[in-house]
Amino acid sequence: MGRAFVGGSLPIDGNAVAPDTASPTMDLGGGTLRVIGDLYVEGDIRLTGTVTADTEVLAAGISLTTHTHGGVLTGAANTGGPNP
Ligand SMILES: [Fe+2]
Repeated sequence: MGRAFVGGSLPIDGNAVAPDTASPTMDLGGGTLRVIGDLYVEGDIRLTGTVTADTEVLAAGISLTTHTHGGVLTGAANTGGPNP
């Protein structure tokens, strides 16, 4: 697979199409990809690092920062799953 190197900015007015459709890859070579605006991904995301959110994380509509758990009593037992 060929590689393209960009020094500076790369303005794109339209779609970016991978020439190798069998395994399209975008390799930043250790740099940073900054997206200004919303990002929608149609597929799974696999990370090898840490996810950090400055505001909130929602999983199936359940807030990571404010969700509660049912079946909680003081003691050594585990809680139930998060409430919606
Ligand atoms: Fe929880």
